[in-house]
Amino acid sequence: MEVPAIKFENVWKIYKLGTVEVAALRGLSIEIKRGEHLAMMGPSGSGKSTFLHLAGALDRPTKGKVLIEGRDPSKLNDDELSKLRNRYIGFVFQTFNLIPRLTALENVMLPLVVRGVDGSERRKRAIEALEQVGLGDRINHRPTELSGGEQQRVAIARAIVTRPRIVLADEPTGNLDSASAKEIVKVLSRLNRELGITLVVVTHDPEVASAAERMVKIRDGVIYEEN
Ligand SMILES: Nc1ncnc2c1ncn2[C@@H]1O[C@H](COP(=O)(O)OP(=O)(O)O)[C@@H](O)[C@H]1O
Ligand SMILES: [Mg+2]
Repeated sequence: MEVPAIKFENVWKIYKLGTVEVAALRGLSIEIKRGEHLAMMGPSGSGKSTFLHLAGALDRPTKGKVLIEGRDPSKLNDDELSKLRNRYIGFVFQTFNLIPRLTALENVMLPLVVRGVDGSERRKRAIEALEQVGLGDRINHRPTELSGGEQQRVAIARAIVTRPRIVLADEPTGNLDSASAKEIVKVLSRLNRELGITLVVVTHDPEVASAAERMVKIRDGVIYEEN
């Protein structure tokens, strides 16, 4: 039996703010196969970002079990945990989170600097990633010299430059006009199809969701519908 990319078993996440408790996930279960393209839709506050944080091992569940590529992050030490995040996971955010004074190329190289990849290899792989998102001709532009859609493509290049098996995108088109949104969906879908990257996209946009082969709906911290 093949190991799923991501598996949640009855996962609860309870945030504590002083004496107030917020149950962001309430017994959520899901299995996401390797190579799958999944969309998750749900209203604001339904637990989507919390789900992605746990799926990317950025946070741990209060109760229940999360497995990423068959590994249980709660059983790993700090070193193993950062390896898991570095090797397996790429994140894409609604707000791009690029560093303004760095060029596209420098932004994309950054995760490789952290990983200790040497200079020429770094450059080669960053250019390759930028080409994969169709920005081979924009490598020396800074974020302010790029459109929103192009900035998001740089952010996607940064997410895939480490060659992750899983890409987690949190409302990646939320700040974009509909033409740019379509472009981003195309780029992400192609990475899923051609590189076999497991893709999880959280979105409000039915059109973005419709590009996925599988769609789940979340409300009050549980998945209540799938199609
Ligand atoms: N760090 C946090 N501390 C306390 N409460 C949080 C935190 N993050 C999220 N929440 C709460 O958990 C619930 C789910 O939030 P979130 O996962 O961000 O939802 P979504 O991404 O669907 O909008 C919300 O009620 C939110 O206010
Ligand atoms: Mg969110």
